[in-house]
Amino acid sequence: MTNKIIYGDAFEELPKMEDKSVDVIITDPPYDFPPGMKHRMHKQFLRISRNWVIVFSPPHNQWILPADQYLFWIKPISTKNTSRRYSRFAEMIFVYRDGVWNTDRHWSQYTNIFTDLVDTSKLHPFRKPPSLLERLILNHTKPGDIIFDPFFGSGTTLLVAKRKGRQYIGIESDLGYFEKMRRKDHLAEVCYFKDVIGR
Ligand SMILES: C[S@@+](CC[C@H](N)C(=O)[O-])C[C@H]1O[C@@H](n2cnc3c(N)ncnc32)[C@H](O)[C@@H]1O
Repeated sequence: MTNKIIYGDAFEELPKMEDKSVDVIITDPPYDFPPGMKHRMHKQFLRISRNWVIVFSPPHNQWILPADQYLFWIKPISTKNTSRRYSRFAEMIFVYRDGVWNTDRHWSQYTNIFTDLVDTSKLHPFRKPPSLLERLILNHTKPGDIIFDPFFGSGTTLLVAKRKGRQYIGIESDLGYFEKMRRKDHLAEVCYFKDVIGR
């Protein structure tokens, strides 16, 4: 099984990866990348993934190209809004391309509106609900597939992938989050492409 985490900058690491070297990309990049960076990244995603490319993005700063399918995560209201603006309780998920589509699940697993509870574990400020990632992984991959998340954060996608018998590759540029993930799966292969101070 290939389970591998890379401490590095996705912009430097993606060009090093082979064409079609993973089955699916499921990722949640920082929301504030400028359009040019998103464009470069998207080209790399399409080159590296054999099948689906699935990207989380907010409605106000969308991922760069029109998608083939749009999913919405309507976050159940969890905080009181004290600002003078509407609060954002919706995230979007952009689905590109095609690939494995498992049809043996309950119909409710294939709606394009998700309502999973916001994760309150404080493992990462932008941690996505494991139940939501599980749905995407079970709908779009088969056991043994390689799932790639180049912005893994607290590692939600990678850990759900492993729990469901899939393989994973992940990149993270924050050493703190990277080391936490290393401790969560001490069997994963580890690559340090960034200088690690104090090691
Ligand atoms: C939105 S968070 C991902 C959260 C993750 N989905 C989770 O459930 O925990 C984006 C992550 O990308 C990382 N990041 C930012 N720029 C990066 C880069 N150039 N290369 C790799 N990782 C990067 C951040 O440190 C952050 O942890």
